[in-house]
Amino acid sequence: MTDLATIRTRLAAIDQSHLLNFYPTLTAGEQQSLVRQLASLPLEDIPALIDGYVRRKPAFVLPRDVAPAPYYPHDAGTGSKRWDKAKAEAAGEAIIRAGQVAAFVVAGGQGSRLGYEGPKGCYPAGAVTGKPLFQIFAENILGIHDRYGVWAPWYIMTSPLNHEATQSFFESHKYFGLPRDVVQFFPQGVMPSLDIGTGKVLMASKSEVATNPDGHGGCIRALHASGALAAMRSRGIKHLSYFQVDNPTVRVIDPVFIGLHASAGDSSGEMSSKMVPKVSPEEKVGVFCHAGGKTQVLEYSDLPMELQRERQPDGTIKFIAGSIAIHVMGVEFIHRLATDEAFGLPYHRAEKKIPCVDPSTGAAITPGANNGVKLEKFVFDALELCKASIVLETDRVEEFAPIKNATGADSPESSRQLQTLRAARWLESCGVAIPKTAGGEPDCVLEISPRSATSAGELKQVKLPKAIERGAKVAL
Ligand code: UD1
Repeated sequence: MTDLATIRTRLAAIDQSHLLNFYPTLTAGEQQSLVRQLASLPLEDIPALIDGYVRRKPAFVLPRDVAPAPYYPHDAGTGSKRWDKAKAEAAGEAIIRAGQVAAFVVAGGQGSRLGYEGPKGCYPAGAVTGKPLFQIFAENILGIHDRYGVWAPWYIMTSPLNHEATQSFFESHKYFGLPRDVVQFFPQGVMPSLDIGTGKVLMASKSEVATNPDGHGGCIRALHASGALAAMRSRGIKHLSYFQVDNPTVRVIDPVFIGLHASAGDSSGEMSSKMVPKVSPEEKVGVFCHAGGKTQVLEYSDLPMELQRERQPDGTIKFIAGSIAIHVMGVEFIHRLATDEAFGLPYHRAEKKIPCVDPSTGAAITPGANNGVKLEKFVFDALELCKASIVLETDRVEEFAPIKNATGADSPESSRQLQTLRAARWLESCGVAIPKTAGGEPDCVLEISPRSATSAGELKQVKLPKAIERGAKVAL
C-alpha cells in the first residue's frame, strides 16, 4: 500500500515522522513522488540499522586463523600452485564460443573522489584518444565478437542517480557500434542516508529523502529483481565476468581466467578473483586472505597494519594479494544467493558529507564535516559464501590502471602512463622499437584498442609500424 496514511503510520512506528514535515507545502506531483520514494525504501529495517551502524560502530573482528590466501601464480610454472595456462585458455575459449559468458560492469558508484560530474563510465580515459571508459569496454566486446563469433551480452549496473544519464550516453554514441540488444542496463537499489548523530533519515530536499546506492554488493539482489538473472539463465549464460567501471585496462572477458574458474580442481565455479601483488604494505587495496576455510577480502582499513607489514623470509610481503575487483561469478551461485530468503550481505558503514535540508526549517545544509552515514554492501563478501573460491595472480601493468583520484596514484595521469607502458611492452614483443627516456620509460604516449588486441599475442596479428617516433602519440 502506498497511500499517505499507510506511510505515515509506518514512519511513526520507526520514529522517522520528520520525513513528512513538509508534505503539506508540496505540490501534488511532489507529494506523490515523496510517498512513492518512501514506499520503495526498506523502512522497517531502519531502526536495527541505526542501532547496528550509527549508534554503535560495528567492531571489526579479525579471524583468529587469518592467513594469506593461496593463489595461482601469474607465471603458471612457478610457486606451489602450478597450473596449465594453455589448458585453462582452451577451456575458457570453448565456454566463450558456446555463448555462456556475459560481461558485467558495476557502474552505480558516485565517483566523488575523481570530482567528475556524470557517470564515471563517460570519463575520457584513453591515453591518446580520450575515449570514454564505456567505449573501451564496448571495444572489448566487439573484439570478442571478432575473435570468437559470438556476442557476449554486456550487463551494466547503474544506480537511480545515473541510470538515465548512462543510457542516454550510449544512445548518443550509438552504442559504440554494438548491436543495441547486446547492452542491458539495470539500476541497483538505494539505502536512505542517515544522520551521523541521531540516525534520523536525511532529506535531500523538502520533497526527497537523501539516499545512496547500496554498494556494489547490491548487484546480487538487483540482478535478480531486474529480471537480468532470469534472462541470463534462460539464454544459457553460465558465467558473469565482473569488473569495475574505473579500469580501462581490464580484460572484460578473459578466456584464461574464465577457464580456470570453470575447470580448476579446487574451484567450485561459484566466484573467483584476480589479484595483483601489492606494491607496498600501505597500498590501499583490499587483501585476499584465508580464514575459517574460506577465501575472503579484508579491506586495507580493517587488516591490522602490523600484519600488512609482515614479510616472508625472502623479503616479500606476506599478505601480498591485492584485490583489483575483477571476478568471475557463476550465474547459478548468484541465483542461489538472490533467491535465499535468509541471504543478506553485511552492510559497511561510510561516514560522508551529505548535503541535505534542515528537517524543521527546510533550510539547505552544506556540511563542512561528515554529517551522515551511508550503508553499503560489498560484492566480495559473497566469497565467504562459496564452497571454494580461487584467486589468480595477474600483472599490474597488464590489467590494472584504474582512474579513481584527480591526481597522484590511480589518477588519469597514472592510468595514461600504465596504458603506455603496457602498449610499449606488447609492441616490443612484436619487434617494434620504442623510444625511451634516460630513465628507461617509453618516451611517447600509446594506446591499443581492445578491439585490436587484448594481449601481446593478439597484437601479433595486427599490422604494426617498425618503430614509434620519440614524443609521438599513437593509437592502434
Ligand atoms: C575498490 C575495492 C577495493 C579494491 C579496489 C580496486 C571496495 C569497497 N573496495 O575500492 O578492495 O582494491 O576497488 O580498484 O569496493 N559501485 C557501484 N555501486 C555502488 C558503489 C560502487 O556500482 O553503490 C561501483 C563503482 O561504480 C565502481 C566500483 O563499484 O565501479 C568500486 O567502487 P569504489 O567505491 O570506487 O571502490 P574503491 O574504493 O575504488
